[in-house]
Amino acid sequence: MTTVTFVETDGTRHEVQARNGRSLMQAAVQNAVPGIDADCGGKCLCATCHVILPEEWYARIGGPNPDEKVMLDPTPERAPTSRLSCQIVVTEALEGLVVYLPAYQM
Ligand code: FES
Repeated sequence: MTTVTFVETDGTRHEVQARNGRSLMQAAVQNAVPGIDADCGGKCLCATCHVILPEEWYARIGGPNPDEKVMLDPTPERAPTSRLSCQIVVTEALEGLVVYLPAYQM
């Protein structure tokens, strides 16, 4: 298990234990983190699992894959360090990861 934190726009923090090998989105849903709707269930088809990474974590994890970029680009709150959390696989290398939720999901 890896400790990751989701931060709402009002600053509310949700520190959760994420199962390694599963997606960051699954960790959010399993821990009832508000703001991760995940309407498509992790198939990279909805962009309702949008999160914004701090620059240092974005540099470590990397940018979106091509399909993910197609979904992210029309998202109103798209930031330079945006990712879809269903496309991020949790590993122990993500211990201490903090991600920020947009005000709205698409
Ligand atoms: S859950 Fe639908 S794109 Fe991530």
